[in-house]
Amino acid sequence: MRNGTVLLLLAALVLAGAACLTAPGTGSASAATVASTDSGAPSAIVMFPVSAKPNPKGSAMTPTVFNHLNHEKAIEKCETCHHTGDPVACGTCHTVEGKAEGKFVTLERAMHATDIHKRTDQNTPSSCVSCHAKQTRERQECAGCHAILTPRHDAAWCATCHNAKGSMTHQQLRAGIEGTLPLEENEAIAAKAEQAQKPNRLLTPMHGPYKVSIDALSEKYLPSNFTHRRHVSSLMERIRNDKLARAFHNSPAVLCSTCHHRSPLSAKPPKCGSCHTKEIDRMHPNRPNLKAAYHLQCMGCHKGMNVSRPKDTDCTTCHKARP
Ligand code: HEC
Ligand code: HEC
Ligand code: HEC
Ligand code: HEC
Ligand code: HEC
Ligand code: HEC
Ligand code: HEC
Ligand code: HEC
Ligand code: HEC
Repeated sequence: MRNGTVLLLLAALVLAGAACLTAPGTGSASAATVASTDSGAPSAIVMFPVSAKPNPKGSAMTPTVFNHLNHEKAIEKCETCHHTGDPVACGTCHTVEGKAEGKFVTLERAMHATDIHKRTDQNTPSSCVSCHAKQTRERQECAGCHAILTPRHDAAWCATCHNAKGSMTHQQLRAGIEGTLPLEENEAIAAKAEQAQKPNRLLTPMHGPYKVSIDALSEKYLPSNFTHRRHVSSLMERIRNDKLARAFHNSPAVLCSTCHHRSPLSAKPPKCGSCHTKEIDRMHPNRPNLKAAYHLQCMGCHKGMNVSRPKDTDCTTCHKARP
């Protein structure tokens, strides 16, 4: 249903001329695949559902292209990922079924776990997903939006990593799973898959209103004049060149859905008041009422990004007192 909506939205954009779409690109494609690494690791490598069995049960996932060059530039220590100290393939110890060398931590867990406890006697391992989530929490330019949203972790999210489909033959897939695929062949597949990646296109701040007068509750105060375009452009500008954000913000209206949440992705989102009522809705006791919805969202992001003005207590910056 969501995909359908996105398609409709895309179709509408094409009809409208699509003149002002940004094309930020994933950036990593051509340049990264020719440049070599300092570590001696391949610039980009395909990771397979490594298994002792040729057709492991449950290994339905498309293999993943991992860009080592981007990662080793962005992450200071090799041991953050190569947690045992040996820079060898994760599949040496973590397989689809799990094996003794990896204390039966499966490949799936090693790649996606987000509940990894801190080790004191050795390096704390990171999964792909746990480190990405850490980036969104710890970097100020990401932390505002990410403090107020719950990622869907939908099929498009899986496909951002599991992206090497169509770039290899069935024999190559089998060899990859068995661990017998020659390195040069692996690198060639990775390069082909990276080249095949299309840049994500996002709506721009111009697709939203310039200012919005929020007045659904206005009683004690005058309506709140929300600087919509300034907000959206300021948030997007800060992350324009970030490769992780560019890869994972992967449908046109996704950044709009930070605030316009829980509804189909759209450039014409429903009003907050269509789901958040003035008084707590008995049917949805966990849903904040409308005033709390605004306050929690506005202030949640400001806090996450350390926005210094307005302070939460500067009540009359967001809504002037009635004269
Ligand atoms: C941040 C990157 C990333 C995301 C997002 C991601 N995966 Fe993976 N996943 C990997 C990597 C890397 C591997 C190991 C190589 C491989 O099998 O492709 C893997 C392996 C797996 C495996 C074990 C191998 C197999 O085929 O049995 C499963 C199952 C899996 N992923 C399912 C999913 C599902 C379902 C989603 C979405 C809900 C998802 N993954 C999202 C990176 C990711
Ligand atoms: C962000 C995580 C990350 C960082 C940081 C990182 N690596 Fe890697 N490295 C990987 C992953 C994932 C693979 C692919 C493993 C696989 O194929 O299962 C890999 C593969 C390698 C390989 C190839 C291993 C093989 O046998 O296929 C080498 C060599 C390597 N890394 C060395 C290094 C060195 C040296 C550093 C530090 C300068 C480093 N790596 C930093 C994640 C990382
Ligand atoms: C030499 C074997 C070996 C290699 C290579 C290896 N691991 Fe591990 N890994 C282990 C062992 C053993 C454990 C369990 C140790 C523990 O619990 O502290 C583990 C645990 C983990 C965990 C924690 C899972 C949990 O349940 O908390 C993650 C995540 C992980 N590994 C990711 C990786 C990634 C990513 C790579 C490749 C970059 C990798 N590992 C390479 C042996 C290995
Ligand atoms: C320790 C942290 C860390 C781990 C672990 C990690 N990543 Fe990343 N990832 C990053 C950072 C930081 C970036 C942005 C890199 C840049 O700005 O060049 C990134 C970028 C990406 C991107 C988008 C840009 C690109 O290089 O294609 C993808 C896709 C990705 N990671 C997949 C993975 C997969 C798959 C794994 C696990 C095998 C993984 N990452 C493990 C931190 C991590
Ligand atoms: C304007 C708001 C906004 C900003 C700023 C933002 N994001 Fe996101 N991001 C989103 C939304 C919304 C999603 C959820 C997509 C979904 O699941 O529907 C998301 C999802 C993601 C995901 C996939 C979910 C996950 O946890 O793995 C990653 C990775 C990500 N963002 C990285 C970043 C990084 C890195 C930055 C900062 C450089 C950043 N984002 C800044 C709105 C934002
Ligand atoms: C970050 C911006 C922001 C800050 C700071 C803020 N508010 Fe609000 N507040 C809003 C928005 C947006 C609304 C919804 C306005 C509407 O619908 O009329 C709202 C609505 C209200 C309302 C209901 C509307 C009315 O006129 O009666 C009250 C009461 C209120 N806020 C009190 C406060 C108080 C007291 C403070 C300071 C402790 C405060 N707010 C700080 C954004 C803010
Ligand atoms: C930082 C949060 C935030 C982001 C990001 C955001 N919006 Fe909004 N938008 C709002 C708020 C708050 C309102 C007022 C809603 C209400 O009171 O019902 C609004 C209202 C709107 C309206 C209704 C305008 C009117 O005059 O009634 C449209 C259309 C809209 N947004 C489109 C977008 C689009 C398109 C994007 C992405 C390009 C976007 N928004 C991104 C917060 C945001
Ligand atoms: C289509 C319905 C819908 C719309 C429109 C909507 N919300 Fe929500 N909102 C929800 C739901 C559902 C929840 C989760 C609580 C629940 O299950 O009832 C939620 C939760 C929240 C929360 C609590 C934190 C969280 O994310 O769970 C805040 C804050 C919030 N909404 C603010 C807003 C604001 C501000 C707007 C307008 C920009 C808005 N919402 C528009 C349905 C909606
Ligand atoms: C997703 C993050 C985010 C959300 C949600 C958000 N803000 Fe902001 N806000 C910012 C940032 C970042 C700034 C810093 C100003 C800049 O860089 O342009 C800011 C600045 C402001 C300012 C001072 C500058 C100006 O434009 O007047 C006001 C007032 C303000 N916000 C009101 C609001 C109100 C009202 C809401 C809720 C309806 C809200 N903000 C929601 C991120 C956010």
